[in-house]
Formats: sequence, C-alpha cells, structure tokens
Amino acid sequence: MRLLVIGGTAFVGRAIVADALARGHKVTTFNRGLTGQDADGVEALRGDRSTDAGLRELTGRSFDAVIDPGGLVPAHVLRTARAELAPFYAFVSTTAVYRSWTTAGTDESAPTWPGVPDEDGDPDLARLGVRKRGCELAVEQTFGPDAAVIARAGMIVGPHDNVGQLPWWLTRIAQGGRVLAPGDPDRGLQLIDVRDLSAFVLDQVEARAGGIHNVVPDEPNTTMGHLVDDCAQATGSTAEAVWVDEGFLFSQGVQPWAELPLWIPDGPATAGFWAVSGASAKAAGLRTRPVAESVRDTWEWLRSGGEVRLTPGAAPFGIAGEKEQQVLTAWDARSVV
Ligand SMILES: NC(=O)c1ccc[n+]([C@@H]2O[C@H](COP(=O)([O-])OP(=O)(O)OC[C@H]3O[C@@H](n4cnc5c(N)ncnc54)[C@H](OP(=O)(O)O)[C@@H]3O)[C@@H](O)[C@H]2O)c1
Repeated sequence: MRLLVIGGTAFVGRAIVADALARGHKVTTFNRGLTGQDADGVEALRGDRSTDAGLRELTGRSFDAVIDPGGLVPAHVLRTARAELAPFYAFVSTTAVYRSWTTAGTDESAPTWPGVPDEDGDPDLARLGVRKRGCELAVEQTFGPDAAVIARAGMIVGPHDNVGQLPWWLTRIAQGGRVLAPGDPDRGLQLIDVRDLSAFVLDQVEARAGGIHNVVPDEPNTTMGHLVDDCAQATGSTAEAVWVDEGFLFSQGVQPWAELPLWIPDGPATAGFWAVSGASAKAAGLRTRPVAESVRDTWEWLRSGGEVRLTPGAAPFGIAGEKEQQVLTAWDARSVV
C-alpha cells in the first residue's frame, strides 16, 4: 500500500513506519524535521500541519491511507483529514478520552470528554482527553465510521519511549539499592507494547477495517510487583523493592504517577483505570507480547544509547533521589515503632 504517516519520527509513529516498511509498504512521512530522523527507505516530506500553507508538499498527492499517530490539536487533524489525501484514515488516540475510571470494563461506548473537532491552538497536554476527543471527531466527521480506524491506546511501553515511565523504573532499578515501591505489588497493570499497537493499526489499515478500539491487553497483563521484578531481571540489578503503604506515601507528599510512575492509587475513583475493556481490539486481531519482552527491549534500547526525548510540553517523571531516601528512612522508622 502507499501509506502517508503524519510525523513518524518519535515513538508510535516511528514503530508504525518501521513495521510498514518491513511489510513491504511504500511509506511517505510528513513532519517538520525537528523531532527525529526519518527512517531509511521512506519518502520524507517536510511541512507543518498547523497551517493550510504548511500542507503544501502534500497538495495533489494521493495514498491508500493516511496514518496519524501523533495528532494533538483537533484543527490540525481536521486539516489533514479534509485534504483528500486518501480514502482511509487511521488515528492513534488514547483511553484518556474517557471521563471516568470508577468502573472496570470501560468499553468504546463509555462517555468521553466533549471534544471540539475544529479547536485550534498549540498542543495542550493538560487537556489531553478533550483534545484527543476533538481529534477523533475531526476524523469521524470527515471519514464516517467505516473509512477510519481510531485506536485508543492505553499505557504504551517499548523502545523509543517519549513519555518515560518505564525508562524511569529501569534506570532507577539499575542503580540498585533500596527502591521505593508504591502500594500493593499485586496491583494489576495494562501495558501495551508500541510494536503491538503499531501492528494492530497496520492490520486495520490493510483490511480497511473502520472502527473504534481500546488498544489495551484484554486483561491486566502484569502487576507492579512483576514489573519491578522484570526491570531487575533485565538490568541484572540486585535492587531491593521496599513496598510502602499508599497512605504513608501520601503523608510524605509523594505524588502518584508523576513521582512514582505508573502508580495509580487504589480507590473508588480509579477502580477501572487498569481494567479497561480490550475485547473489541482482541476480536479485531490484537496480539500482545509478554511485558517482560517489552521491558527487556526497552532496557536494550536505553543501554545502547537510547534517550527519552520528551514530547514537547511533557514533564519528566520520577522522584528525586534525596526525597526517595527521606521517605524510606521515615518508613523504616515507622515500621519499628
Ligand atoms: N505514550 C503513551 O503512553 C500514550 C498512551 C496513549 C496514547 N498515546 C498517543 O500516542 C501518540 C504518540 O505519538 P508519537 O509522538 O509517538 O508519534 P510520532 O509520529 O512518532 O511523533 C510525533 C510526530 O509528529 C511530528 N509533528 C509534530 N508537530 C508537527 C506539525 N506541526 N507538523 C508536522 N508534523 C509534526 C513530529 O515531527 P516534527 O517535530 O519533526 O515535526 C513527530 O514526527 C500520541 O498521539 C499520544 O497521544 C500515547
């Protein structure tokens, strides 16, 4: 197929380009040339999707499908969707479009944030759910339900990660010593490898199968405890995880997610966070690899010089070493009372 990938040089887009080339497709990428290198073997076009004039290089071109992995601004997505470049459009969205995490089994019919398909402006990660829903609407309204696939990805891991949660855990555990670990080691997580997400998107594009899918493993596919063990195994570290009660972490001012990545505190408001329904993607052919493989390959990438290059506007993850030690010391003192 002749595929146009908007972006294609960071994380998800990069994986889609690599897989598409491996499948023998003819790939054109379109980006500003700021974020990363285009893969060998693509036709690389330059432009800025944020203005009409920026799409000039695409004028008159036609493809079998447009793949839009990184769209963050609805008006930008609307512009590419309306550019009459292809009869099929694939958009990578996020489960952050859902309004609530109170129940397990959130499927594609659950209420979403009210996005606006022509909302313009700079990317705004603080309003990610609203913005991505606006992007989805831009695609849905232009292509209809049958000629567009919307892949609502859950937490993505794997090589070239540009968010940084798993890389932080790997790097911290590789340093060794006593590692502050959040809450219950048996808390389930749902992680999707970027290569499995990419394969799913390409499978739908090749089949021209429209639809909306949560792209998550059908069931939680690891636990926080197993993930920490996988990180120790991959890095060959003898670090000792110290599992600290969530209430105690709060009392010490430790921030969930931001300071201890992937930590979503247990409670009624978050009961469904790591239990999203992946039934529709599974039925459409999603295959997922073991998390240990994602962990190993991410470490291999970091070890061979890979660096997390954060999406513009994103904050880095991880607790400061000094604060971690203070919390561990306080936890030890509390434990012996
Ligand atoms: N990480 C997660 O856990 C997670 C979870 C759920 C969903 N997601 C979604 O997954 C997607 C990840 O995308 P990605 O960043 O990995 O995609 P990507 O396609 O690999 O990278 C983003 C691309 O967009 C290009 N770009 C940015 N602004 C542009 C502009 N104005 N005009 C043209 N090109 C532009 C960048 O290149 P230049 O800067 O050189 O232009 C870059 O190539 C996001 O949509 C995110 O919301 C992520």
